Amino acid sequence: MLSPHHLHMMRIAALCTWAVMGVPVVFNALVRHTVSPLGFVIWGASSLVFALAFWSSTREQLKPQPDPARSVTLLWVQSISGVINVWDGLYGFSAFFLVLVAMQLLPTFSLREVQKLLPTLQSGEAAPRIRIRGAVLWMLGQTAAVAFVHGLRHGWLGVAPLVAAYIGFQLYVLFSSHLAASERRSRQVLEQAYAEVRATQGLLLDSSRLSERLSIARELHDVAGHHLTALSLNLEVAVHSEPRRLEYLQKSQVLAKLLLSGVRETVTALRGEATLNVTEALHTLIQNVPGPQIHLDVPQNLLLSDPLRAQILVRCVQEIITNAMRHAEAEHLHIQVVRDAEAVQLTATDDGLGLQEGQKEGNGLRGMRERLAEVAGHLEVHGAPGQGTRIFLTLPLGGNA
Ligand SMILES: Nc1ncnc2c1ncn2[C@@H]1O[C@H](COP(=O)(O)OP(=O)(O)O)[C@@H](O)[C@H]1O
Ligand SMILES: [Mg+2]
Repeated sequence: MLSPHHLHMMRIAALCTWAVMGVPVVFNALVRHTVSPLGFVIWGASSLVFALAFWSSTREQLKPQPDPARSVTLLWVQSISGVINVWDGLYGFSAFFLVLVAMQLLPTFSLREVQKLLPTLQSGEAAPRIRIRGAVLWMLGQTAAVAFVHGLRHGWLGVAPLVAAYIGFQLYVLFSSHLAASERRSRQVLEQAYAEVRATQGLLLDSSRLSERLSIARELHDVAGHHLTALSLNLEVAVHSEPRRLEYLQKSQVLAKLLLSGVRETVTALRGEATLNVTEALHTLIQNVPGPQIHLDVPQNLLLSDPLRAQILVRCVQEIITNAMRHAEAEHLHIQVVRDAEAVQLTATDDGLGLQEGQKEGNGLRGMRERLAEVAGHLEVHGAPGQGTRIFLTLPLGGNA
């Protein structure tokens, strides 16, 4: 994956180089007549076709969802025009073309649909290896074709150094683009980590507000409530034992009762509001996730009163997203959260590589299972190679709804 910024620069640099290198050829053909007309036509036509295909294939890569069949076809067109271009061996143009193709190999082979076109390469192997192997094979294939045409046209003697030089150039770009992709990936993981931190901060903030409210509520209940009850009782006694102050005491009693019920109302209201907004935390969590695309289906206001349960839910979603990013190579991740009176249920489905046969659980999935077990919840993980992964979890609310 090259970033859009890299791609833009690459397109412009390539077309500038193409134009600069083309000038002497055109000059020699049209002014000095040192190039044969047929050679010039073949060179011109294949260069033009290459440039057009290059322009549209890099434009395809700039789209959010590049069309895999189109990308591969355009790659073919570029490789073939690079090979035809060697016909007259003009000024090393074909080397330049093959290098430009090599630059696009890893981004194109990263498209999952493209990997599906290569079933023989895919069996049981991790995606990055498929990508690199596919790209290297393509590079060797186009170099062999160039070597063949060159051998036919210009003799076999010069083929070995040519092949060595071509492969050298292409390997260099291939590995640079691989490095750029891994660097981009690390940055994505970092961004994800930031999102996780922000989401947890949100929850913490909520939960500190929550515990503050709870302590105020408790305080009101224990202190004010207790004193007012005592006052009310005392006054009641006074009402019976001191008839002279009857009117005044009766008023006091009414007042105290009003106060008490006021405090009670406040306590109830504070308790009622004391909830954590899981919906907000989940939305924060999925912000800036660079890929897969996350489709979050969660009730508009999923409020949980128990901080532990809210935290477990957010942590599980965090792990699901992280796994989809790190292991699945998925394009889409659907997360659906529903809640009823007893429990929160979550279903997460990705369209990634799926679990390998006999895949052992790591710390992530085991951690989810253990956290859920703390509140009598449970976790199911389903998936087979090439069929994506499906996770189902239940988080009972245990009367904490
Ligand atoms: N969504 C997924 N798609 C494909 N493979 C997955 C997915 N989630 C987990 N896995 C596989 O299961 C393994 C265990 O996952 P996990 O328990 O989260 O541990 P960790 O992420 O630390 O490796 C992963 O190493 C990975 O191979
Ligand atoms: Mg994990």
